[in-house]
Amino acid sequence: MRDERADMSTPAPFDTAAIRKEFPILEREIRGKPLVYLDSAASAQKPRAVLEALQNFYQSAYANIHRGVYQLSAEATELYEGGRDVVQKFIGAQDRREIVFVRNATEAINLVARTWAEENLEAGDEIVITALEHHANIVPWQMLAERHGTVLRVAPIDERGDVVLDAFEALLNERTKLVALTHVSNAIGTVNPLEKMIALAKAQGCCVLVDGAQAVPHRAVDVEALGCDFYAFSGHKLFAPTGIGVLHGRLPLLESMPPFMGGGDMIESVSFERTTYAAAPQRFEAGTPDIAGVVGLAAAIHFIEGIGMNAIEAWEQSLLEQATASLEDVAGLRLIGQAREKAAVVSFVLDGIHAHDVGTALDRSGIAVRVGHHCAQPLMDIFGVPATVRASFSLYNTPAEIDALVAALNETREIFG
Ligand code: ALA
Repeated sequence: MRDERADMSTPAPFDTAAIRKEFPILEREIRGKPLVYLDSAASAQKPRAVLEALQNFYQSAYANIHRGVYQLSAEATELYEGGRDVVQKFIGAQDRREIVFVRNATEAINLVARTWAEENLEAGDEIVITALEHHANIVPWQMLAERHGTVLRVAPIDERGDVVLDAFEALLNERTKLVALTHVSNAIGTVNPLEKMIALAKAQGCCVLVDGAQAVPHRAVDVEALGCDFYAFSGHKLFAPTGIGVLHGRLPLLESMPPFMGGGDMIESVSFERTTYAAAPQRFEAGTPDIAGVVGLAAAIHFIEGIGMNAIEAWEQSLLEQATASLEDVAGLRLIGQAREKAAVVSFVLDGIHAHDVGTALDRSGIAVRVGHHCAQPLMDIFGVPATVRASFSLYNTPAEIDALVAALNETREIFG
């Protein structure tokens, strides 16, 4: 492993063999075949660095945080709050207090819907999303609309899976209060041109939330440079444990927002008559948080930084190019989503064979892919399919695994005739 930032002009070859050794689960066999894990968009596997950080924490530094006067609690608090600093730097946030720990990107978006949006939006106000969103960035806004009479507008995509920017711009008006966009589509891999879209939204004075769950594992993210107000992501897609996620929010916004959940650790003082709340981010972290999750998240970020995000992105892009070219040669295969810029996700259907049957057949060859609507049913409707097969690549995948996928698809084709 290396830090490619040392010399960006002559990148060393990506050492997948060394990287794969860091992921013990990749040694597994499934049905007598080596595991080919092509479902990192659903959840990424965990490197030794994360597994060991969790074990060490539970074994030698575990206690509750922010509460104890004793040494162990102070150590655990330091690890948890240190994790906030690690995340702050990782996404280029201005202030550590802009990092709120939540369970996942879904909770982060719901937090904004239940606090900032409740406080600032009224009947008739409009929220603009895109047709690429998955359910986590649709349903909370529909629930808000039911409670408050806000209106949800959806920017269309073209046949390639790119947002139609003129149509997006045309939706923005003085009633638009929030623009909530995915950074990268989980189902078809489109990378949204966020800089342009955020600039358009900001020109109308809109608040901007970005769902970054599928972006942070694959490309460098700088929330300051993007200029968004909120950025949400999950740890488990970033090689960290399940149950930990992040909401980044601009400090003045977080400070103006009411609490999300009430309970311990989010208060300043409590009496039966009246409670006052802690400042951000504690105000949004009620109850004992996922302390070990933060320890694991910090370890995952250090692991990624040790390899270098630019090197990871370049590797995954080469896998994407190989997969796109080879899949186009599989008889009866239709790629769903061929956006101008994509993260390492290929979604497809095989003529006359249900996606679930394809997934089951691939599993017989030890190949793990996701099949279904990918929690993006409206997007599937736009492409006129109930489900797709989705293979998603990560830093530990290899060209040989893509060859295995293509071979297994050709076999499936033959079996189903
Ligand atoms: N949103 C995750 C996926 O795309 C679970 O699979």
